[in-house]
Formats: sequence, C-alpha cells, structure tokens
Amino acid sequence: MLSGRKILLIVSGSVAAYKVLEFTRLARKAGASVTAILTAGGARFVTKEALAAITGQAVHDDLWAAEADIGHIRLARLPDLVLVAPASADLLAKMTHGLADDLATCVLLATRAPIMVAPAMNPAMWENPATQANIATLRARGIMLAGPEVGAMAEPESGPGRLIEPAALLATVEAALTPTAQPLKGRHVLVTSGPTHEPIDPVRYIANRSSGKQGHAIAAALAALGARVTLVSGPVAQPDPKGVTVRRVESARDMLAACEAALPADVAICAAAVADWRSAAAADQKMKKIAGEVPPPIALALNPDILATLSATGPHRPKLVVGFAAETEKLEEHARAKRRKKGCDWIVANDVSGDVMGGAENTVLLITPKGTEAWPRMKKEDVAAKLAARIAEALA
Ligand code: C5P
Repeated sequence: MLSGRKILLIVSGSVAAYKVLEFTRLARKAGASVTAILTAGGARFVTKEALAAITGQAVHDDLWAAEADIGHIRLARLPDLVLVAPASADLLAKMTHGLADDLATCVLLATRAPIMVAPAMNPAMWENPATQANIATLRARGIMLAGPEVGAMAEPESGPGRLIEPAALLATVEAALTPTAQPLKGRHVLVTSGPTHEPIDPVRYIANRSSGKQGHAIAAALAALGARVTLVSGPVAQPDPKGVTVRRVESARDMLAACEAALPADVAICAAAVADWRSAAAADQKMKKIAGEVPPPIALALNPDILATLSATGPHRPKLVVGFAAETEKLEEHARAKRRKKGCDWIVANDVSGDVMGGAENTVLLITPKGTEAWPRMKKEDVAAKLAARIAEALA
C-alpha cells in the first residue's frame, strides 16, 4: 500500500504518456498523492487538464510560474519518490549531465528524494550506446529503473523500449517505497574491482580489458543491503557507486596495500583483474626507441596475489573471502582448482571467452564448499544483487 506516500510524477515526451493517467489513478487508489510536472515534450502527448483531473491537483509546467507559486526547491523537497514516467531519451541524457533548463530538470537536480525512471522510446534509441551509457551512469548513481518492456511500439516495430504497464509500474513503485531490510548493517565489506596498471616507464603500462562493471555493481549491491563498503578500484571509467568509500589505486602492489589498510572486514570480494606480472624494473625515464636497435626486452616479476593474501589465516582474515575466476575453457574445473589454491571460501567463475569483459551481462557459476550453482545469464547488476543476497544469508 502507498497510504500517505507522496509521488512527484514527471511526464516527459513520449506517445506512451497516456499510460501514466492510468498509473496515477491506481497510485491514488492505493493511497498515494501524486503531484505532476509536465515537460514541454510531455504536453505534446497528454494535456495539462487531463493530468490535473486525474491527480486532483494543479499541474506544474513552467519553471518561472512555479517559482512564484511554490518554487522548484519546495517542489523537490515534497515527495517520497520522484518518478519520471515516461522518461524520454532526451530527459535521461539531461539527467546524466545534470542540465537544469526547465522545471523538471531543476527539480531532478534539487531533490534528495529517491528517483525512479520509466523509459519509453523507440528500440533503436533505447539500444543506442549513448542511451545505454546514460542509463548505466544513472543506475550507478542509485537512480532506479522501471522497465522498459519489450514489445510492439506505436510505429509498426517491436523491441525493447515500451513503457512499463501501469500496474507493473505501481508494483515497482510500491517495492521501492517499502523500507528494505538491511541485513548487512554493521558489516564491513572490502571489494576490489577493475584492472591494475603496471608501469613499464613513466608513460607506458601493462593492463587488461577489465571495465570494473561487475566489481562496482557488487559494491553498490552490498551498500544497498546496508553494508559499509570499501571499494579498492584500479583505473576505470565507472562512476563511484553511491554510499561506498572508494580507494583508487594503479598497481597490484598499491591495491594490496589499500586492501590491507582497509582491514578488518567481515567479507572480502576480489573482483579485480589484477595483473599477474609487472615490469621487474620500471624505467624512471621514458624508454627511447633507437633506430636499428633490437627492442628492449621487458623482464617480468610476479605480483603479490591479493586474494591469496587476504585468504591466508591470520587475525584479520575476513569470515568470508570470495574470489573470481575468469576462464576461457574448463570453467568449473579450473575454478575449483583456483578455490583450493587461493584458499578463498567461494569462487564466482565466469567464462570470458565471449563479450563478458566490458559487457553488460555475465553468466556465472557460484562455487562454494557445498557445491556448484549455475546462474542464468543476467545483467551484471543482477549478478551483484544475487551475490549480495547470498552473502547476507551466509552471514546471518
Ligand atoms: O589467478 P587468477 O588471476 O586467475 O585469479 C583470479 C582471482 O584472484 C580474482 O578473484 C582476482 O581478483 C584475484 N587475484 C588477486 N591478486 C592477483 C591475481 C588475482 O587478488 N595478483
């Protein structure tokens, strides 16, 4: 139920805007009050009068009129949830970059309330890397996503991009407004993420293709369950997850030092793709190419194994140490051997022969002393949420 809950509904431009009238009717029936902001694009698809009638309140559509009346800051402070439905590609892009050129974007920037977006757009626009990058940034900032659904569009076309149906949107809003259990409250979790950079000289380094998406998503999922999270991250383009302490490092040796400084921890999750080797003697000055000379060999030295170090018995060994195994063949066999060799408790094994590294989805095996579970292919955020839930169960 939504009794007494205040929703600020931002309606932007999409032919699906008519569906929010039904959503509003259902939300009010469930006890919520709905205040609407209509963008210029939204007004092309649904009238201010229809929204006013269905919300039972005046509709705000003009930054300057709102200033005289209630003010965008007061509007922003009003709700328990800001719901952008439908959220157009343009509004999502504006939110990503923090633009504030109309009432809706000013309120979105000024609010401290949780924000949920329900995108609606043509499948090609939804799948465009620009939109996907914007969604990833917004999600990493803690903005919730409702839909979109896959199905027929207004144009004779079908695919992902349909606005979530009103009843399903209501269920998603109800779930977001129901206080979640915080089973990891009081726990400290250490997470490593991303690649490491191992200098060869001041301008060159050894690296790998890790994006940090999976490790960062795990840090965010653990924080959402109430854990205090320290994320030790190699160089990545991912934004810092909300509510997480981030320590940025470059090399494996820096990463180990940052992990050891973060102890004690109840749980350690090593999702970083740590370079196995570094240049044995990184040059102080840029190495010069000399015409006609044989290229210099790079002697390698073994890096410390962070997972094995954290797994070793000692007064600060976390109760649960989780490693990752990225393999291109014999996934389970290699991952099981890795669990024994490193001394960790669980291994999350993933096949990286396809598009996993840098991709949005992952197919993993969870290997514990009790056996192996094969999880279906899912978004990295969903793998993270499932892993965080399993960790909470294990510590309970
Ligand atoms: O040995 P390999 O790199 O395949 O093992 C992968 C697991 O070990 C991952 O959990 C990774 O974070 C961790 N690891 C580490 N330090 C290293 C190498 C790997 O923590 N030097």
